[in-house]
Amino acid sequence: MTDAAPAPPRSVLVLGGLSAIARAAAELHAAEGARLVLAGRGKDRLEEVAADLRLRGASAVETVDLDLAACDPEREAPRLVAACGGTVDVVLLAYGMLGDQLRAETDVDHALAVIDVNFRSAAVWCLVFARRLEAQGAGTLAVIGSVAGDRGRRSNHVYGAAKGGLGLLVQGIAHRLAGTGARAVLIKPGLVDTPMTRGFSKGGPLWSSPERVAAAIHAATRSGPAVVHAPAFWRWIMLVIRNLPDAVMHRTKL
Ligand SMILES: NC(=O)c1ccc[n+]([C@@H]2O[C@H](COP(=O)([O-])OP(=O)(O)OC[C@H]3O[C@@H](n4cnc5c(N)ncnc54)[C@H](OP(=O)(O)O)[C@@H]3O)[C@@H](O)[C@H]2O)c1
Repeated sequence: MTDAAPAPPRSVLVLGGLSAIARAAAELHAAEGARLVLAGRGKDRLEEVAADLRLRGASAVETVDLDLAACDPEREAPRLVAACGGTVDVVLLAYGMLGDQLRAETDVDHALAVIDVNFRSAAVWCLVFARRLEAQGAGTLAVIGSVAGDRGRRSNHVYGAAKGGLGLLVQGIAHRLAGTGARAVLIKPGLVDTPMTRGFSKGGPLWSSPERVAAAIHAATRSGPAVVHAPAFWRWIMLVIRNLPDAVMHRTKL
């Protein structure tokens, strides 16, 4: 009897490879010997991350310098898939922009930038890769949304609306892909200590490390429900917040 051939390394495409959360997730894939393609802005910064991932065990790492909100996903997808070796097992869409809520209330261009990065461009990438994974009959589209998309709140409703819209799209794609062999999953982090939240006062039980969220993302790329809060306790917090009556909600500054 001969041993079965070992499974080939998973190919993982990271859209937003410079995000702190994505980098922590990429490290977990690298430790498994995955083949990684990192897309983001800035060749030198990407190469620095790539060198580290090779040391951590990645079987190959390629970088693609791309403004993911300004390019044409339809046109760029084929070369990204080629860089993955022709088949992509995991697409992790991680890039995003918090923006400034108060500014977005008076500066339409800023509001549109937040919507463009977090919803419009991300939605197009999701649709392009949903079609690709559907055709492969395999692979996972993993998209980082946010708990901010669970209820419109005064403190971040432009960002929240963009993430909420993206979340509905990914949920719908997950439904559409059911039974095809491919799948989609939305990961909704809570408060995470990354460059995106610089300027926030951090600390306390609600704050998580990028590594903790990355572990949830990594698990979600293998199996599980189509929507995951990360860490899982955010599911219960957001259940309460979603169900707060307006009369109570509108007296808070959340
Ligand atoms: N941190 C949190 O508390 C939190 C909570 C919920 C959800 N999230 C989501 O988690 C994801 C990762 O964020 P993070 O916390 O890891 O923050 P981060 O380290 O600041 O990462 C965000 C990344 O998005 C990239 N990006 C933005 N616009 C881009 C564009 N047009 N083209 C290419 N790259 C672009 C940024 O690249 P540059 O360096 O070039 O600007 C940056 O590397 C985001 O989708 C975010 O919305 C974060």
